[in-house]
Amino acid sequence: MQNLVLYRKYRPKTFGEVVGQEHVVQTLTNAISSGTISHAYLFAGQRGSGKTTIARLLAKAINCENRKPASPQGGNGFEPCNECSSCLEITKGQSLDLVEIDAASHTGVDEIRELTEGIKFVPVKSKYKVFILDEAHQLSKGATSALLKTLEEPPSHAVFILATTELHKILPTIISRCQRFDFRKLKLEEIIGRLETLVKKEQCSVDGAALELIALNSGGSIRDAEALLDQVLAFGGKNIEDIKDLLGMVDIKLVSQFIDLLLQKKASPVIEFLNKIIEKGGDPQEFAKSLINYLRYGLILKIGPELSNPIIIGLTKEEKEKLQAQIVSVSEADISRTLKLFMDAENKMKYSPIPQLPLELAIIESLQKEEK
Ligand SMILES: Nc1ncnc2c1ncn2[C@@H]1O[C@H](COP(=O)(O)OP(=O)(O)O)[C@@H](O)[C@H]1O
Ligand SMILES: [Mg+2]
Ligand SMILES: [Zn+2]
Repeated sequence: MQNLVLYRKYRPKTFGEVVGQEHVVQTLTNAISSGTISHAYLFAGQRGSGKTTIARLLAKAINCENRKPASPQGGNGFEPCNECSSCLEITKGQSLDLVEIDAASHTGVDEIRELTEGIKFVPVKSKYKVFILDEAHQLSKGATSALLKTLEEPPSHAVFILATTELHKILPTIISRCQRFDFRKLKLEEIIGRLETLVKKEQCSVDGAALELIALNSGGSIRDAEALLDQVLAFGGKNIEDIKDLLGMVDIKLVSQFIDLLLQKKASPVIEFLNKIIEKGGDPQEFAKSLINYLRYGLILKIGPELSNPIIIGLTKEEKEKLQAQIVSVSEADISRTLKLFMDAENKMKYSPIPQLPLELAIIESLQKEEK
């Protein structure tokens, strides 16, 4: 199956296609409609959340020769037409009036000087000349001060869009000259919705539970979720098992069954269960890691249900419900003590002649302490 990288193929071409970031979209589209464009914007936030996408959309919209009206009755719209020559050139990455610079690879003064000198010239064919400066926190000192001078008195045809994943590294003097937007991590449902759209467009079928697991593993970045989906589609994956294989994940179900047995407070069935997993080819070290993760989720759920954002918890809805039921009758102190015991065990496993022995000891010890 030939797979074009999804994130390039389906980069949103209209503001309507952007998922989340409502505050950014609302403010920018109002500015486009009313013609009140700033000369400098700063887009801050995690990777894969739409910064470059929205920067290009803004560039497109303000230079579009044929912007669509807001409603059939007229009024000023904000969506680019995606058909005029300006829009088409931007889509193809060939516009002379949209300059994109990646500060990660051009940190030098020379490039910025060239750029700031180039700014004096009016746009080739459009109303605005737009400069997107990606990873702006990586500019060198010299380059930054050259940029600062330009931002102090930008010509009326220039629009700067600085993007960064590390806002704290941007000089306050730069920040204060820009209109700033904070891009947030995307919510689980938003990412799932986006993946569903792409799967439909690719005319494939992938289980809902599988999409949920992909979204959970994306850390709130749509781009990372799309990259994972790419791999899954290339591999012909359809269900949750395929994805676990692909991600090399230990089955949460096994971990959850292990905890069920542990809750019955008898050591021997737990040890027997552990050894069965290993006999079947399970890696004890990987199992220990998953167990620790699972206990951590349990602890988070116990101390603060408000922390139970699925992105933090990393569990599907069913898995979370199951875990919630398991921790009802266990105290916070017991969970954290068990967690510490298994963490120690995981550490010792590297040096143990019998890899699972530290785990077995941790099982016994955790039950002894609870009996007191
Ligand atoms: N908010 C979003 N809505 C829809 N798609 C998004 C969004 N954020 C990211 N994407 C997807 O991820 C890809 C990369 O996003 P991009 O805007 O380059 O992220 P950033 O610049 O914040 O790292 C886009 O082409 C798009 O497919
Ligand atoms: Mg980007
Ligand atoms: Zn257009």
